Amino acid sequence: MNKHHRQIASLLFCTILLLLHSLHAHAHTVCIIGSGIGGASVAHFLRRYSDPQTIGQITIFERNGVVGGRMATVTIAGETFEAGGSILHPKNYHVLNYTKYLNLQVKAPKHADDSLSLGIWDGHKFVYKTLNSNSNLPIVQRFVSIANSIVMLLRYGVFSLFRMSSFVEAMLSKFLRYYEDFGARPVFESVEEMLKWAGLYNLTTRTLGEELVGVGLSPLLIQELVTLLLHGAIDRNTLQVYEPFPRESPDPVEWGCEVITRINYGQSVNISGLAGAVSLAGSGGGLWSVGGGNWQMAAGLINRSNVELHLHEEIESVSYLGDVYELNSTKGGSYNCQVTVVATPLDELNILFNPEISIPPRKLQHTHATFVRGLLNPAYFGLEALSDIPELVGTIESADLSFSSISVLKQHDKDMTYKIFSREPMSDALLDDIFSVRVETIKINWGAYPHYQAPEKYAPFILDGNHVYYVNAFENAASSMETSAVAAENIARLILSRLSGQDNYSSPNLKSFTGDSSKMHSEL
Ligand SMILES: Cc1cc2nc3c(=O)[nH]c(=O)nc-3n(C[C@H](O)[C@H](O)[C@H](O)COP(=O)(O)OP(=O)(O)OC[C@H]3O[C@@H](n4cnc5c(N)ncnc54)[C@H](O)[C@@H]3O)c2cc1C
Ligand SMILES: *[C@@H]1O[C@H](CO)[C@@H](O)[C@H](O)[C@H]1NC(C)=O
Ligand SMILES: *[C@@H]1O[C@H](CO)[C@@H](O)[C@H](O)[C@H]1NC(C)=O
Ligand SMILES: *[C@@H]1O[C@H](CO)[C@@H](O)[C@H](O)[C@H]1NC(C)=O
Ligand SMILES: *[C@@H]1O[C@H](CO)[C@@H](O)[C@H](O)[C@H]1NC(C)=O
Ligand SMILES: *[C@@H]1O[C@H](CO)[C@@H](O)[C@H](O)[C@H]1NC(C)=O
Ligand SMILES: *[C@@H]1O[C@H](CO)[C@@H](O)[C@H](O)[C@H]1NC(C)=O
Repeated sequence: MNKHHRQIASLLFCTILLLLHSLHAHAHTVCIIGSGIGGASVAHFLRRYSDPQTIGQITIFERNGVVGGRMATVTIAGETFEAGGSILHPKNYHVLNYTKYLNLQVKAPKHADDSLSLGIWDGHKFVYKTLNSNSNLPIVQRFVSIANSIVMLLRYGVFSLFRMSSFVEAMLSKFLRYYEDFGARPVFESVEEMLKWAGLYNLTTRTLGEELVGVGLSPLLIQELVTLLLHGAIDRNTLQVYEPFPRESPDPVEWGCEVITRINYGQSVNISGLAGAVSLAGSGGGLWSVGGGNWQMAAGLINRSNVELHLHEEIESVSYLGDVYELNSTKGGSYNCQVTVVATPLDELNILFNPEISIPPRKLQHTHATFVRGLLNPAYFGLEALSDIPELVGTIESADLSFSSISVLKQHDKDMTYKIFSREPMSDALLDDIFSVRVETIKINWGAYPHYQAPEKYAPFILDGNHVYYVNAFENAASSMETSAVAAENIARLILSRLSGQDNYSSPNLKSFTGDSSKMHSEL
């Protein structure tokens, strides 16, 4: 090697050292608390919107032994069902894209063997019951469906049903703005700002009841139908009233059992208008879920985002040490990261923040999901035969009710698998009243979603004014798998824009996706 070559070699060496140094200096480490759809989505979008010089290691901490959080399945009588978040809307674009990206199966709600019957129970009697065709002939079912629609029309009034539908459509079309390109869509520093920009903020300042009276719905519809929807029980066949002509789906009567668990906040019309509209949107057509379990979206995103996953590791403190945060776990682990993302509701947690943070108090609504293999007792419902009990029993707001809904998940040869939602735990004594046969019972207590109130108050996205971010601040607006993903996408952009020291989102460190949708497609 001559002198000249040696010079070049040492120059190269220095350049590489410098490069390595700058890589090291700029690649920020990120710690995410929680492996639900929110935490998994933050990791996914951080990777998608940046390169390794900007974001280095991403670590996700999960206190449970599995990922997915409120997306989880339960196995009863040898079959697997969604136990938490179950139903997705056709316009839930982030989650829809996840299933494509991860090659997951989009599953339409299962078809039942016969038509799905529905009843509204007030604690003493059925105040509304659909006719049941007990026929597999599509033409008979169609007539029954039309007859049911007419009963609905007479009871609630066509204008009320139409207005309810328009109310939900208006909310959905505003929500779609959150999928606009970067150029058209700013990075939001607060939930309020995010809601105001899309024109959704006002919906969170009034209750759903007030909103619906405002748009001219009949009080009976609000009391019965809307409460029923909020309790998580209604099917498309019944709401077909405002979609009188079948579109692609020839047989809306044949909606199966898994449709019935709508986005269900288990609360009254006192919830905010926005949370209500999101809940009502869960009663349209085209609903779906991920075959094998929605939790696979979180698992797949984490798998593909170059994440270090720590299962069974619960974070108990987050301390700011000047340029990094120190996260300590109950296992005795201690980790340093430049960015900390809280991707779980803080309301029932005891994470110690140093310095302290302050967020508005919020109560979580607990939903008890009880799965039973057995047979309902018709006498409990004042009925003669098991076949008289609707496959979906919804309830209206009433003090004497011990459950919000009961639905058939699966019909076996001799018995069935049911899912019950209730606000209080179902005691064995109560279950023995409601069921004549009970072979297997599984009870799950979910800290399900915020207890909504209007006007809503929001925790900040940026908890400490520095680099601790809170995805679930958005849950006061509405809680669903898609809203968690939408909030997470904004948090990822917020992190990247603040790391690059710009309020605006146009840093050269960030991959630009505006006007380059081909890249976006290929990455997803
Ligand atoms: C019964 C029920 C029915 C629902 N139905 C629907 C529906 O049909 N459609 C729909 O879209 N949504 C539905 N939802 C809501 C939806 O499931 C949630 O909004 C969504 O899954 C929330 O995701 P997330 O990632 O924000 O939070 P989570 O899924 O709650 O994830 C938070 C994670 O953080 C972990 N964690 C908490 N504290 C710590 C700590 N200190 N250290 C480490 N890890 C920690 C938790 O174990 C959890 O895994 C339903 C929810 C329930 C409970
Ligand atoms: C929201 O409410 C405020 C005050 O009532 C009103 O000025 C504003 O126009 C409303 N915005 C929307 C989008 O409806
Ligand atoms: C709804 O709110 C009103 C007014 O605050 C209250 O009177 C009513 O009891 C509430 N209803 C329910 C079901 O919580
Ligand atoms: C992770 O993704 C790879 C493909 O990128 C796949 O082969 C592997 O099975 C996945 N692992 C898990 C645990 O999902
Ligand atoms: C976190 O753990 C480190 C190392 O064990 C310890 O020095 C520190 O005091 C702990 N912080 C808190 C808040 O407990
Ligand atoms: C963001 O950038 C746009 C144009 O690039 C500019 O008009 C706007 O004022 C900027 N906003 C902030 C907050 O810097
Ligand atoms: C989802 O993917 C489609 C096509 O692959 C793309 O057009 C769309 O922008 C993506 N949506 C989101 C929210 O990323």
